[in-house]
Formats: sequence, structure tokens, C-alpha cells
Amino acid sequence: MLSLLFVATSLLMMGRAFKQLVDCGLNVPRLQSINNSILFIVILIIIFGTASFFRSYFINNIAEKAVGKIKQDAYYSLIKRNIVDFEELKIGDIISRLTTDIELIAKLIVNFLSFFIRNLIMFIGAVALMFLQSPKLALITLVTIPLLLLPLMKFSKYVRTLSRHALQAQASISSTLEESFVNIRTIQAFNQQENKIADFNKQITLYLVQASARLKIRSLFFAIAISAILFSIITVIWVGSTDIASGNLSPGQMISFIYFAVIAGFSSGGIFELFSEIHTPLAAVERVFALIDKKNECRENEDDFREGKSSIAIEFQDVYFSYPSRLDVSVLNNLSFTIQYGKFIGIVGRSGVGKSTIMQILLKFYCNIKGIVKVKDQDILKINTGRLRNIIAYVSQEAGIFSGSIKTNIAFSNPNASEKQIAEVAVITGITEFASQFKEGLNTEIGERGVRLSGGQKQRIAIARALLYQPTILLLDEAMSALDSESEQKLLNAIKQLMRGKTILSIAHRISSIEQTDEILVIDNGALVSKGSHKELLESCEVYRGICVSRLEYE
Ligand SMILES: Nc1ncnc2c1ncn2[C@@H]1O[C@H](COP(=O)(O)OP(=O)(O)OP(=O)(O)O)[C@@H](O)[C@H]1O
Ligand SMILES: [Mg+2]
Repeated sequence: MLSLLFVATSLLMMGRAFKQLVDCGLNVPRLQSINNSILFIVILIIIFGTASFFRSYFINNIAEKAVGKIKQDAYYSLIKRNIVDFEELKIGDIISRLTTDIELIAKLIVNFLSFFIRNLIMFIGAVALMFLQSPKLALITLVTIPLLLLPLMKFSKYVRTLSRHALQAQASISSTLEESFVNIRTIQAFNQQENKIADFNKQITLYLVQASARLKIRSLFFAIAISAILFSIITVIWVGSTDIASGNLSPGQMISFIYFAVIAGFSSGGIFELFSEIHTPLAAVERVFALIDKKNECRENEDDFREGKSSIAIEFQDVYFSYPSRLDVSVLNNLSFTIQYGKFIGIVGRSGVGKSTIMQILLKFYCNIKGIVKVKDQDILKINTGRLRNIIAYVSQEAGIFSGSIKTNIAFSNPNASEKQIAEVAVITGITEFASQFKEGLNTEIGERGVRLSGGQKQRIAIARALLYQPTILLLDEAMSALDSESEQKLLNAIKQLMRGKTILSIAHRISSIEQTDEILVIDNGALVSKGSHKELLESCEVYRGICVSRLEYE
């Protein structure tokens, strides 16, 4: 603030110095007076320079800190957000809000703190000094400039619309970039590079058309504004010269008046520009804060599990469920089943019947369920989500792998695990075997989303991570689908060994992988059609027999 004041004052004081220089120095040539005036101006320039440095440094620093804080808040809020919200929000949109939009907010902060306040101080100061020099000329200026600039108000709205369009075009360029490189293998495998290039070029062209329309209007805007200011100055010179001729004004007063008028003109132009541009960053503020302030829809409960006597680990009672993004389709339809502690349960069913949905509900990713879902004989909606997830480990259909090493990916679920524990699960899941071929073993970097690993290797890591979590309930959603039958059997036996006494729920398409389970649940159309051992089901369940027959043909 202080540096802002110094910048503004030193610029304004220069006008006084010019007057001194002209009136006392040039008019009646006196060397001492010229030197004094120049020295004064030099001092003012040094003050101006120093203050400019501090202004720029402090204000940009404030903006960077504010942006950092907003990013932290947004990440904090997003990472804890309900899964439902991520079905509405596109990842590209989130990223663009957290980068492009936040940059705009930073610009708003810098512009407001620095240019707006500075320009306002300078404008008020310059106008006051103009009146001091010559009230008549000041009045002429104050009336002509706004009159000339008035028609420009119309432009500002147009510029705003064009800016918004350019921003949208920019956002779609970013999302195309992201999608292209995530799917680079699919693009190249289908020889679609040229088509993609053409699509991208089209988007760039669209952006350029919008950007250049905006620039054209803005340039015109400034050309007219500057001309208006110059026009007004010429009027002042004309009226002022007449006054000088008639002895009503000194040449020094005239020069400093023009100096103040230019400053007033430029600072008001600056304020004008800020207002015309303020709508885009304000929209960005809204978008970012909408992301931060959104409340979770699930009410959070603080209750922990109570020690129960029942032997039921998982229970679904008459459960109906629709995904919030598609409420008209009922995915689970009156689903009921119970699972005892220590059992290994298989879940089978055709694709899309709701098998994975059962696991999503157990993890409380969605809470709009009808009916009752119990874990450890307690209603999961009444149990704190964090506590519930503390006892469940989940291996999803797509192994969620992060960039980093094999080891950091395993330890992800339990960062406090010892080297020994990590090594143990790595051996059990067969990771050690393949990692030993790499020079760096478990410390091998695996690239973004694990691109340097095979599908099966990624699945082994996802399973190792779940085992390291030491869960009471293990959920496996096609967790071994990329492994060959032999490896799968080996891994299954190892998991059963380690998880003895704990509950395992395993969704599988391959019958061989659930043949050995204690019980198999057959799901169709979101409901339980039958349950029993492989043998029993083969005899009694038509749906199960159908699944087995179709699968055996391929195995
Ligand atoms: N997030 C979602 N939003 C809306 N509908 C969904 C969502 N996830 C799944 N569905 C729908 O719910 C139904 C059940 O999906 P689910 O993933 O449970 O099937 P699945 O039995 O696991 O199938 P698969 O064997 O192919 O994995 C499908 O019709 C699917 O289109
Ligand atoms: Mg599934």
C-alpha cells in the first residue's frame, strides 16, 4: 500500500517539477534553478523506481499466496468429496478450474491491488492538481473525455462475451490434449493420428478466430480511447495557448496541466479497462468456489462398530438402488443375502447385472439406498464412513495404479507398513518374482498409471496393496481377470491362507476362480436368483448353468 502511494505521488510530483523547470528555468534562464529542478525530478524517478519494485514484488507475492491457498482448499475439499460428485464433474473441468480459472483470479488480485488502487489514487490526485493549475482547463477536460468515451461502454459487454467464448475454446483444447495422450495407444492402433490432428487444428482455428475477434475489438477500443484523450489534450492546448497569449496562464502551468491531464486520462482508461475485463475473473471466482463450497450429500455419522455377538459379516436386506446420475434405472432390485464371518464368497452374473454395484454400496460410495445394508451386523449408514472403510479392502475392476515405484504403490494403503510386511505381501502376490527381473526391484518406477507394467502385474500390485491393509473384509472385483488360470489359482490359495478367519467377497467371470469358494451368489437383474456351492448350483440353478456352459466353451 505504501509503495503504491509512493508510486502514485512520485508520478504526480513530477508534474510540479516540470512546471518549476519551465517557469523558473526556461522562462527566465537561470542555471541553478534548472539544475535544482532536474535534481528534484531525478530524485522522484528514483523514488518511483524503488516503490515500483516493492509494489510489484509485494502484490504478486500476495496473489501467489492467495492462489496457493485456494488450490490447497480446493484439493482438500475435492479429495473428500462424495463419489457421486465426480460423475457430474469432468476431470478436465476440475483441472481447468484449478489452473486456468485460478490464474485468472490471481490476475484479478494483482490488477485490483496494484492497478486499480494506483490508478484511482493517480486519477483523484491528477484531477485535483489539474484544478489547481487551471480550473477552466480542468472543466473542459473533465467534460470532453467522458463524452468521447461514453460510446465505448457498449463495446465492453461485447468484449466480455468474446472473452468468455475464447476461454471455453481454450478449455476444450486442454481436454482434447488430455484425452489424446491418455488414449495414445488406441489412437495409434487404429491409425487415427491424422484425424486427431485435423480435429485439433479445427479447435485451434476456432480459438484463434475468437481470440482475434476479441483482440480486434479491444484494439479498436483502445485506439478510440487514446484518440479521445489526445483530442481533449489538443483542445486544452488550444484553449490554454489562448490563455497564455492573453497572460492568464504561465507556460509552466500549461505543461504541468497537460502532464496531469495525460495521467488522469491514462489512469481513468486503466480503471475503465479493469471494469470491462472484470467479468471473466469474477466468473472464474464463482466456478472455483462452487467447487470448494459444495457440501457432501451423505450425512456423516460418528458411530463406530459396537462389539456384536452375531456371526453375520455382511447383510443386504431388501435393497433397492439406482445410481444418482440415472435415477430412472433400478440397478439393484430387492437384493437380499447374508454372509457369515470367515467365509469366502463368490459372486457371478452376466455383465451389467449389478455385481460391482454391491461393492460400491458396501464402501458407502453412495448412500441413497432403499433397504438395509449391514456390515458386522450394523447398519452402514449409521457408521462413520472412515471407520467402515478401515475394515474393508477393495480391489477394483481397474487396478488403480499411481505413478511412483512398485513399492510406493503397495504401501499406498498403509504408509506405516514395515519393509518386512511389504516384502511379505510382495512375495505372496508374485510381485517379487517379476520385480526381480528389473534392475531396481521393488523400487522400479512404473510410469503414470503404471504404463510400464502388464495388466496382470498391475492387478498383483492392487491385491498386494489390499492385503497390506489387513482388512476384516476383502472385496475382489475381477481382481485377477488378467492372470492366467494357473497363476490365479496360486494367488487365490495364498490369499485364502493369509485371510483365514476373514471374509472375502469375490466377483469373477471365470468359474474356475470361484469353484472353490464356500458359497456362490448368483445375481441377475440386481437380485439374488440362487446361492450354494458350485455343485449345488449346477444342479439347481438354470442361470448358473447357463453361465457355466457359455464360459466353459472358452476355457
Ligand atoms: N456410476 C454409474 N452411474 C450410472 N449407472 C451406472 C454407474 N455404474 C454402473 N452403472 C450401471 O449399473 C448397472 C450395473 O453395473 P455394474 O457395474 O454393477 O455391473 P456388473 O455386474 O459389475 O457388470 P460387469 O460384469 O460388466 O462388470 C449397469 O447397467 C451400468 O450401466
Ligand atoms: Mg463389474
